[in-house]
This record gives sequence, C-alpha cells and structure tokens, in this order.
Amino acid sequence: EAIEKGGYEHFMLKEIFEQPRSISDCMRGRLDANRGHLVLGGLREYINKIVNADRILIVACGTSWHAGTVAEYIFEEFTRIPVEVEYASEFRYRNPIIKEGDVVIAISQSGETADTLAAIELAKSKGAIIFGVCNVVGSSIARASHAGSYTHAGPEIGVASTKAFTAQVTVLTMVALLVAHRKGSITEARYHELLTDLEQIPVKVEKALALNKQIEYIADIFKDARNFLYLGRGYNFPVALEGALKLKEISYIHAEGYPAAEMKHGPIALIDEEMPVVFIATHDSSYEKIVSNIQEVKARKGKVIAVVTEGDTLIPKMADFIIEVPATNEAIMPLISVIPLQLLSYHIAVMRGCNVDQPRNLAKSVTVE
Ligand code: G6P
Repeated sequence: EAIEKGGYEHFMLKEIFEQPRSISDCMRGRLDANRGHLVLGGLREYINKIVNADRILIVACGTSWHAGTVAEYIFEEFTRIPVEVEYASEFRYRNPIIKEGDVVIAISQSGETADTLAAIELAKSKGAIIFGVCNVVGSSIARASHAGSYTHAGPEIGVASTKAFTAQVTVLTMVALLVAHRKGSITEARYHELLTDLEQIPVKVEKALALNKQIEYIADIFKDARNFLYLGRGYNFPVALEGALKLKEISYIHAEGYPAAEMKHGPIALIDEEMPVVFIATHDSSYEKIVSNIQEVKARKGKVIAVVTEGDTLIPKMADFIIEVPATNEAIMPLISVIPLQLLSYHIAVMRGCNVDQPRNLAKSVTVE
C-alpha cells in the first residue's frame, strides 16, 4: 500500500497532487488549442441530438452532482440550452417529466451508484438520450448509456472525491464547448480563447498546489472550529458546496456551502467571532458583489479565509487569510479554485486525527439506494 501511495501519507493527498496530470490525461488526444482541435469520440454520433435538444437534464449524486452544477452554468452560458441538475435519488421517485429526445447527462466516478443508474434507466424507458460521464471504464452506468466520455482520471481510492471531480468538470466543459460551437451559440474568438485557457489549466493547478504549506498553516488555526461556512457566487457557488462537502466528509466538522448572496436569508445569523467563513472570491463578473458579502461577514466579526485571484489588492485588506490562485476564464475557474479547498479539508482532517481515506459511515461507491 505504501508503494501505491507513491510517497504520500494518504491516497487523498496523492490524488489531489495528481490533478495536473489527471486533467491533462482527460484532455489528451481530445484538445489541441493551437490547431483549434477539440474532439470527443463518444459524442460524435449524438452531438446533433444535443445541439437540437430543448433541454438537458443532469443526474448525479454527491461530488458528481457538484460537477453537474458547474456544468449547468457552463452549458447554459455557452449553449443557451436550459439545464436542470437533479439529485438522482429525488429525480427517480418524483415521476419526472421526460420527453422523447431529452438529453440526460449522468455523471458518476464509479459508474455504479445505484440511484444514478436507476435514474437513467427510468429516463431511457421514456425515450431520453443518455450521455454518461464516468471514470471507471466498463462500469454499469457507462454500459447503460447511449454514448459518453470517460474522464480518464485513473483509479480514485480516497473516499472523498478530488481528481474525479476536476476531470468531470473538464469533460463537461469540452462537451459544452463542442455543442456550443456546433450550434453557433459561441463566437469563434471566445471558443478559441476557452480552448487555450482550458489547455493551460494543468499548469495553473500545479501553481495552486504549491500553496500547500500555506494552506496547512491556515488549517492549523481553524482545525478546532465546530462550524464552517463556504460562500461563492456564479461559477464559484458549486465550488462552495464542494468545499463544504469535503470538510464534512473527512473532518466531521459541520460545514455549509451557500450562494454568497443567500447568506442574508439565514446563515448570517450564525456569524460571530467563532465562525470561519471561506469565500471563493476570484476576480470575475460577481467580484464587486462578493466583496460586499465579505464586508457583511467582517462587520459581524466572522473570520474570513478568501480564495482570490493573484494580484488582488482589495480583498487582502479585508480578509483574515487569503489564498491566491492563478487567474483564468471565470467559466473554468472551479478547476483551480477547488484545489485549495481540497487541501484545507485534507489538512484539517489529518490534524484532527481522522481516517482521511476511509471516513466513518461513507463508502466510495454507494451501490444500494
Ligand atoms: C459516494 C462517495 C462520493 C461520491 C458519490 C457519488 O457518496 O463517497 O465521493 O461523490 O458517492 O459517486 P459516483 O461514483 O456516482 O460519482
């Protein structure tokens, strides 16, 4: 096992550090920005059906549902096709409205999650086209799908998903860009810019990983907190959800992810000097808005840890701790902004003596409903 961990103390840490490579592996042979080349073999036969779809449904569970929520933002922005993201377990039991020709994207690392599998069987029986995004080759969901793209992240052993999440977001971004390009709902310039930005993600993830020591230092300060709040807006909202889930899963600290503007409708009541609030506040179209949310938390003496874009001069004046990540297009920022949150939860869990790779009560793949 020590050999399999490749010198890392835990599989989770190894998998977090593998992300520059797993994201590259996911794009290998599919994307070449210089040549303006983007191809997904699994999409070829069905791309026109997606281009012409009236709507797209995404079904998944857990971290995969968070990847689906990032995808909702990307798909709607670039393809202009309405998207709904569904918890597979809710979807399958509420007599969902599915029309012939609806496109259902099923996201699953293991490809074996019982609820997700049952949800796609149901959608299939009503005439939907199923596009699977799985990591495990030949898995049940991959086989039950009409078409799909593998994430190629390699085996993920740590129960808390890390590299599978970033690979899922990478694949879904490529699918969205291909559909948007074919549909003509994205300009050539924007399409090429995004291809280039996507190709540079592994190098930027590497830079985010270099913040490990600094994040360990922050983890030590907050390891005894009893609650955490994670806030983000736009593309960083699902990242807030994922950051909170990572902390809950492995450190057993109660954490909530929320859209930052929604804070005033509830969570703000919890804020006092004991409450760490993690803001994912990179420089994007909602930047000014999130700056005021940070001020609202500071006015109530909350402790602010902010993930910001390199070179930000405003938020460092307000936040208690900042984590600076490289800039990229806001639509793919989740691939970078999630990295410090994975590391933060990892270090807090280790410091609290938790079993990081096999947290209590959790399974890598939930094959019962
Ligand atoms: C379990 C795992 C999570 C995972 C979820 C969905 O709860 O502990 O890490 O996100 O299942 O799994 P899937 O394999 O369908 O992505």
